[in-house]
Amino acid sequence: MVPSSSSILSILLVLLLSPFIVSHALQDSFLKCLSRTSESSFPFSTVLYTPNNSSFTSVLQSSAQNLRFTLPAVPKPEFIFTPLQESHIQAVVICSKQLGIHLRVRSGGHDFEALSYVSEIESPFILVDLAKFRSISVDIEHNSAWVQTGSTNGELYYRISEKSKIHGFPAGTCTSLGMGGHISGGAYGAMLRKYGLAVDNVVDAHIIDVHGRLLDRKAMGEDLFWAIRGGAGGSFGIVTAWKVKLVPVPSAVTVFTVTKTLEQGATELLYRWQQIADQLDEDLFIRVQIQTANVSSQGKRTITTSYNAMFLGDANRLLQVMKHSFPELGLTRQDCIETNWINSTVYMSGFANNTPPEVLLQRINMDRAYFKGKSDYARKPIPEKALEGLWEKLFEAESPLVVFTPYGGMMNQISESQTPFPHRNGTKFMILYWSSWQDATENVAKHINWTRKVYSYMTPYVSKNPREAYANYRDLDLGMNRNSKTSFVEASAFGTNYFKDNFYRLVHVKTKVDPDNFFRHEQSIPPLPQQMGLRNEVEFISSKAYLDHYSHKS
Ligand SMILES: Cc1cc2nc3c(=O)[nH]c(=O)nc-3n(C[C@H](O)[C@H](O)[C@H](O)COP(=O)(O)OP(=O)(O)OC[C@H]3O[C@@H](n4cnc5c(N)ncnc54)[C@H](O)[C@@H]3O)c2cc1C
Ligand SMILES: *[C@@H]1O[C@H](CO)[C@@H](O)[C@H](O)[C@H]1NC(C)=O
Ligand SMILES: *[C@@H]1O[C@H](CO)[C@@H](O)[C@H](O)[C@H]1NC(C)=O
Ligand SMILES: *[C@@H]1O[C@H](CO)[C@@H](O)[C@H](O)[C@H]1NC(C)=O
Ligand SMILES: *[C@@H]1O[C@H](CO)[C@@H](O)[C@H](O)[C@H]1NC(C)=O
Ligand SMILES: *[C@@H]1O[C@H](CO)[C@@H](O)[C@H](O)[C@H]1NC(C)=O
Ligand SMILES: *[C@@H]1O[C@H](CO)[C@@H](O)[C@H](O)[C@H]1NC(C)=O
Repeated sequence: MVPSSSSILSILLVLLLSPFIVSHALQDSFLKCLSRTSESSFPFSTVLYTPNNSSFTSVLQSSAQNLRFTLPAVPKPEFIFTPLQESHIQAVVICSKQLGIHLRVRSGGHDFEALSYVSEIESPFILVDLAKFRSISVDIEHNSAWVQTGSTNGELYYRISEKSKIHGFPAGTCTSLGMGGHISGGAYGAMLRKYGLAVDNVVDAHIIDVHGRLLDRKAMGEDLFWAIRGGAGGSFGIVTAWKVKLVPVPSAVTVFTVTKTLEQGATELLYRWQQIADQLDEDLFIRVQIQTANVSSQGKRTITTSYNAMFLGDANRLLQVMKHSFPELGLTRQDCIETNWINSTVYMSGFANNTPPEVLLQRINMDRAYFKGKSDYARKPIPEKALEGLWEKLFEAESPLVVFTPYGGMMNQISESQTPFPHRNGTKFMILYWSSWQDATENVAKHINWTRKVYSYMTPYVSKNPREAYANYRDLDLGMNRNSKTSFVEASAFGTNYFKDNFYRLVHVKTKVDPDNFFRHEQSIPPLPQQMGLRNEVEFISSKAYLDHYSHKS
């Protein structure tokens, strides 16, 4: 049968209009499903933004930290859902599953590759934005706090300090990080040498699983509770709140930043720092921020190394500790700023001196920029000659940043498999490579290429087999799931960089709790394949390494 021209026309019309019809119909069915599922009369349309809504773009961009992923060509969600209660999240999980719409969840939006609000591999997708899910209750008497995952770490710090000047929490130095993604991937900050990571201080959690059930630690079981403390966000469910253990902080702490250029012996000093940074008194955290700077108007450049530190004690004791273990830095009393813990978090986050701590409640994203980042771990000092080569690489970029973050102390006391975060005993320091820019018209490839070149240059000097990377410094160069059918083989590349052997236990937990892979993204943990036929994967699973591991763990 030959179709008539009018029926061709109507088919064409339907095809042309279908995106609108589909989106309208989808929105309609979604709203109906939400009401039906939650058995409530809550007006869900007031928390569902469609591209049609004038606030859509501002809501979408509100916490998008990496501006690369706000450009027009980047895929946008079909709707943004901003739940107010746990029952809303339960309903959205059930309805996304029923209607077959892919879901992404965002807390603070700091994901380096924007996986919390952009899906390059599946459409349509819905964004569940926890921006309104932010209550915090601090219980000083019991040394704990419940924090909802849409809160930032800065908000938590502030709420603790409102109640006590001698309690704190060991999470990120940057203070606009969302507690959902941040804690899911480990979370380190200026107290990691004394108290470990945030995940080492989590004692309970609430998660909404693939069936829409709300589970606490007891109900989810120890396997899942293990996996969500470091296995990175977006693979196991939606964490709605963490119960954290507060840690003691002294009423006086001291911070400083001392900068040395190449002309002032920066290379030699950094070599010395590498030998002692992980061995220092656990109260002392000294990281090194490395950048380029102009030395003269003739365009001569130099390297600046800024020793940026927090000490859990007063300036007098700090000076003694420094005299004993790192006299080469030449720290003086004038360099030291004695303050309280909450002000120290403001300082370490990079706010100007004397910024009032209330800034922590404003969710200001300090380093919002177009950027690409990568990470490494060093288990031995990088020789001076190699540092000189690194300086050459830095001179090739416009505004590069490299940060060395010291480990040791408490990090050495915790075994590699205690949590999914494996970079523990024997790790001297973590390295961040960062290229950022402020102009949308800049050549993105140039910046990305530069980070790859530095990373390649550093190969001989950092951890290997696997080359370790921090899951919270997400880097799609390490491999990715290319579609909804995550591949175990592909995922084991980035999976072992981030989690070492813990990756296999994460896969095991994933297979148990989400075998159909509802919670997924470009670097989520894959479940084991259900059917035969995926030959490579089956071979991989039956490989000795995996079986050995599997049999130990179950
Ligand atoms: C400028 C900057 C500074 C940083 N400083 C530090 C630092 O000092 N210390 C440190 O450890 N890290 C730091 N990071 C890394 C940071 O910890 C990670 O980017 C972290 O994932 C951010 O969490 P988020 O909620 O803000 O991110 P999001 O982008 O919202 O989420 C990150 C991932 O977690 C998933 N996710 C989000 N919420 C939930 C939830 N409720 N349940 C389950 N999954 C969820 C998302 O889907 C996504 O996959 C920094 C990052 C940036 C950009
Ligand atoms: C967009 O808004 C207009 C006017 O409010 C409405 O008529 C239309 O149906 C909406 N479209 C969608 C897809 O929601
Ligand atoms: C956008 O959504 C908000 C919240 O649902 C609602 O209050 C507002 O009226 C909507 N605006 C438009 C233009 O649809
Ligand atoms: C350094 O000098 C270059 C070339 O003269 C100039 O483009 C750049 O802005 C200068 N950078 C700083 C931080 O002053
Ligand atoms: C903390 O910072 C605020 C704002 O600058 C200041 O008023 C206060 O005195 C500081 N507290 C201490 C103990 O330094
Ligand atoms: C850490 O490593 C050292 C040296 O290899 C070893 O003696 C110690 O037992 C290890 N500690 C833990 C907690 O694994
Ligand atoms: C980036 O690297 C790729 C692959 O090596 C190369 O093809 C491309 O030209 C580079 N782009 C820029 C701007 O340097």
